[in-house]
Amino acid sequence: MKYNKNIFTVDKCKLNKVVKKFETPIFCYSEKKITENIINFRNNFKSFSPVICFSTKSNCNLEILKLIKRNGLGADVVSKGELMIALKAGINSKKIVFSGVGKTRSELIYAIEKNILLINSESKSEILEIESIAKSKNKKVDIGIRLNPNTDAKTLKQISTGKKENKFGINEKTFIEVLEYIKSSKFLNLKCLSVHIGSQILDHKPYQKMLNVLQKLIKKIDYNFEYIDLGGGMGIDYNKDNKKFNYKKYNQMIKKFLKKNKTKIIFEPGRSIIGDTAILISKVIYIKENSKKDFIIVDAAMNDLMRPALYGAKHRIVPLKKTNKKTKKTYDFVGPICETTDKFLTTNKFQKLNEKDYIIICDVGAYGSSLSSNYNIRPKPAEILIRGSKINVIKKRQKLKDII
Ligand code: LLP
Repeated sequence: MKYNKNIFTVDKCKLNKVVKKFETPIFCYSEKKITENIINFRNNFKSFSPVICFSTKSNCNLEILKLIKRNGLGADVVSKGELMIALKAGINSKKIVFSGVGKTRSELIYAIEKNILLINSESKSEILEIESIAKSKNKKVDIGIRLNPNTDAKTLKQISTGKKENKFGINEKTFIEVLEYIKSSKFLNLKCLSVHIGSQILDHKPYQKMLNVLQKLIKKIDYNFEYIDLGGGMGIDYNKDNKKFNYKKYNQMIKKFLKKNKTKIIFEPGRSIIGDTAILISKVIYIKENSKKDFIIVDAAMNDLMRPALYGAKHRIVPLKKTNKKTKKTYDFVGPICETTDKFLTTNKFQKLNEKDYIIICDVGAYGSSLSSNYNIRPKPAEILIRGSKINVIKKRQKLKDII
C-alpha cells in the first residue's frame, strides 16, 4: 500500500477507481499482504512448525477466511457462529480450537458433534458441562485448560487478559484441582495447556514471563501436554514509529521452552495476520470551522470502526489524493454519530482538506469490520479484496431495508 503518482494505491489498484465505483465508507483489503503476513508468521517459527489457528474474532469475513484456509491456517473461534463460519470457509475441524469464558451448553454440543481439535475450557463448571455432554454421547472429548498466568501483557488495560483480576482462564490452584478430576474422567482427555495474555503486545518480555509460569506449573504437575496453546496477541506498528514485535526473541524463547518440553505449539494470531492488510476509505461530508480546530465530518463512524471510541486506539489517517496544499489547522476527524466519542483522530499535520475529499483510515483489518455495528441504524460498509488490479466484492454494503 503506497502512493502512486500521489494516489493511494493498494497493490496495483489506484483507489480513485474504487471511489468512482463504490459508495463510501468501504473496507478495502490487499490479498497480497494477507498472504505475505501468513508466510512471514510461519517463517518466524519454522523450526518447530506450530499449528496456526487464525483468530476469527479479528476478522470473520467468509471470503477472508477462505483465503486464510487456502494458506493452510486453522481457526480459533469463540462462539457457535464463528465455528460455523470457519467450517463454512472449509477449515478442517481438526484445525479448530474453541476458546471463551461463557460457552453455552448448546455451543458445546455443537463443537463436540463437529469433532474439533480442542475445546479450551476456562472454568471448573464448564469442564463439568463438557463432561456431562460427552457422557450423554458416550464420547471422550479432547480439551485444553486455559491458565490465567497472572502476567501483565503491558498493553491497553481493556485488551489485557492474563492478570488475576481478568475474567479469563483458571488460576494455578484450581488448575491442579481440576487436573486431578480430569485424570480420572472417562469422558475427558486433557491434551492442552492454553494461555492468552492480551492483545496488541509489542514487548516480548511478558511472553517470557508467561512461559516461565507455564514451565513452573508443568514441573509441579508433571503432566505431558500434547499441545501448548500460546494464544495470540502479537502487536503491529499502528503508528509507523518502528515499534515492532520482536519475533526473533519470541521464537528463541519458545525453542528454549521446547527443549524442556516435548509438545506441539499452537498459536492463535489475529491482528498480526490481518491488522495491516486493510484500510477504510471515507469521504468528507462537511467541514465545520471552529476557532480552535476544524471538525472534518466524514461518512465513516464509530459503528464502522469502533477501536478509537472503545479503546482510545489511534489509526493513522492519510489523504486518498496527496496535494501540496499545506495547512496549519488542527483537524478533528469525526463521524456523524451522536456521541462525543465518535472521533477517529486529532492531528495538526494534514494537508488542506475540502468537502468531498476522500481519506484513508489505516490498518483496520483486525477488529474493524468484525466489531462494526448498526448503531444509529447505519448499514455496515461493503468490503472489497484487491488482487493485483482486480477488485472483488467480498461483502456487499448492507441495505437499509434488511436492517429495518
Ligand atoms: N486468542 C484468544 C483467546 C483471544 O481472546 C484473542 C483476542 C486472540 C487469540 C487473538 O489476539 P490477537 O492476535 O488478535 O491480538 N478488540 C480488541 C482486541 C480484543 C482481543 C480479544 N482477544 C482491539 O480492537 O484491539
